Amino acid sequence: MNWFLNALKSSIGKKIIMAVTGVCIMIFLIIHLINNLSLYGGPQLFNTVVKNLDIIKPIVRIIEIILALIFIFHIYDGVKLWFENRRARPIKYKINATSENTDIFSRTMIWSGSIIFIFLVIHLRTFWISFNLGHPLAQSHNYYQIVVEAFQSPVYSFFYIVALIIMGFHLMHGFQSAFQTFGWNNKKYFPVIKMLGVIYTLIMVIGFVSIPIYFLFFYGGN
Ligand code: HEM
Repeated sequence: MNWFLNALKSSIGKKIIMAVTGVCIMIFLIIHLINNLSLYGGPQLFNTVVKNLDIIKPIVRIIEIILALIFIFHIYDGVKLWFENRRARPIKYKINATSENTDIFSRTMIWSGSIIFIFLVIHLRTFWISFNLGHPLAQSHNYYQIVVEAFQSPVYSFFYIVALIIMGFHLMHGFQSAFQTFGWNNKKYFPVIKMLGVIYTLIMVIGFVSIPIYFLFFYGGN
């Protein structure tokens, strides 16, 4: 058991945890987006989807705890690796060699990740807490109206749009980086993985960003 814990604490162990938890989060995002797209079906459809999830609440709660642990491990190891890398490279050269070998997405992972973290806290405060902890509209099963009211604030919607585009930067690098950690970085497969990463990121960003845009500019009430 000790060898296992030591392996997880090593640099490569942390990278594997980052990659595995990152892939889990990417799968969660696909499910979450599909769920959220039911907003386009109007209040009846969306409220029914959320109400149906309520029927299997104990299972949803277990999934949420697992998801929270996945996010915590991903963030904790990400921050630790960033500090370790910084400590390993204390001297800042005038010509920064890393900037020649890496792109803007990979060099800004800690910053895009931090913005996603802030987004997540605000997001859960608005939706998860309202949906689950006794908001009057949630008590009458009018979850849809909670979403409408949140996104009709231009400040809130613009914050979402900016944060979700920044999430795209994080996903763009995270996708290929995870598969690189799994060893799928040979000359033959890497261009395919890179392209899949771009397609995945575009679908996620366009899909999620379309929701605040719709409620802010096109929603006329149902
Ligand atoms: C326009 C974009 C988004 C909308 C409209 C949206 C909507 C929602 C709603 C309504 C809930 C509450 C669900 C419930 O408790 O039944 C929720 C929960 C959650 N959202 Fe989002 N979400 C968006 C983007 C995101 C993104 C980009 C992430 C991750 C970075 C995310 C992560 C979560 C998590 C972790 C939960 C709690 C777990 C859950 O209840 O499924 N969301 N979201």
